[in-house]
Amino acid sequence: MNGKLIVFEGVEGCGKTTQMQLCCQWLQSAGVSVVMTREPGGTELGLHLRRLLLEKSDNKPIAELTELLLYAADRAQHVAQELKPNLARGKFILCDRYTDSTIAYQGYGRGLSMDIINQLNDIATGGLESDLTIWLDVDAEVGLSRKRGEEVGLDRIEQEAIAFHRRVQQGYAELAASQPARIFRVDGSLDKETVQLTIQEILRDRLSSWNKI
Ligand SMILES: Nc1ncnc2c1ncn2[C@@H]1O[C@H](COP(=O)(O)OP(=O)(O)OP(=O)(O)O)[C@@H](O)[C@H]1O
Ligand SMILES: [Mg+2]
Repeated sequence: MNGKLIVFEGVEGCGKTTQMQLCCQWLQSAGVSVVMTREPGGTELGLHLRRLLLEKSDNKPIAELTELLLYAADRAQHVAQELKPNLARGKFILCDRYTDSTIAYQGYGRGLSMDIINQLNDIATGGLESDLTIWLDVDAEVGLSRKRGEEVGLDRIEQEAIAFHRRVQQGYAELAASQPARIFRVDGSLDKETVQLTIQEILRDRLSSWNKI
């Protein structure tokens, strides 16, 4: 049986990691074979790229096109090494960020050409789309203030101006509106348990239509 690719998307601090972990526990307790992964950094090579992409660079900024290509390289490796083999094994993959992040961040956030972004997404994925994307909808300010409450400092992307994060958030809103069958909006501003129950409802619905449980 073919596996499924479930992606979690949203601005910094919207709750992706928190909700993925809760989903993983819930699915495993229902007997589903789950793999958790992320972009960037879902492979050994990708971990090197993740460090390059997220570390603070005070005096040698990464050019916007270079950034786009590094994310594409990370994705190509991730698709080849992790996503396709695990889907072929029938795994249920929970993935932290995928192609929609590039559209939201490099497209809406940075203003790079959507045409080039779409082409690169196609090349990197070989056409592999998510079966379902959960967009955790949280205001950019709320997400960032959650991150500021944590011990670790903000990474290179989190340090971008608030206007950048607002454009990213707008990007997600437009993506979700344009692809309602694939991208599900979940109100991520509610408490963790309520958000999780909403996601479980969506997944339960999908799982029964996929005849998984
Ligand atoms: N629904 C929620 N309400 C309040 N705080 C939350 C909620 N969900 C997560 N948090 C807290 O907000 C912070 C960010 O959550 P989390 O790491 O899950 O977000 P993320 O989307 O994975 O962030 P990043 O983009 O940095 O990976 C954490 O401290 C987490 O405990
Ligand atoms: Mg996270």
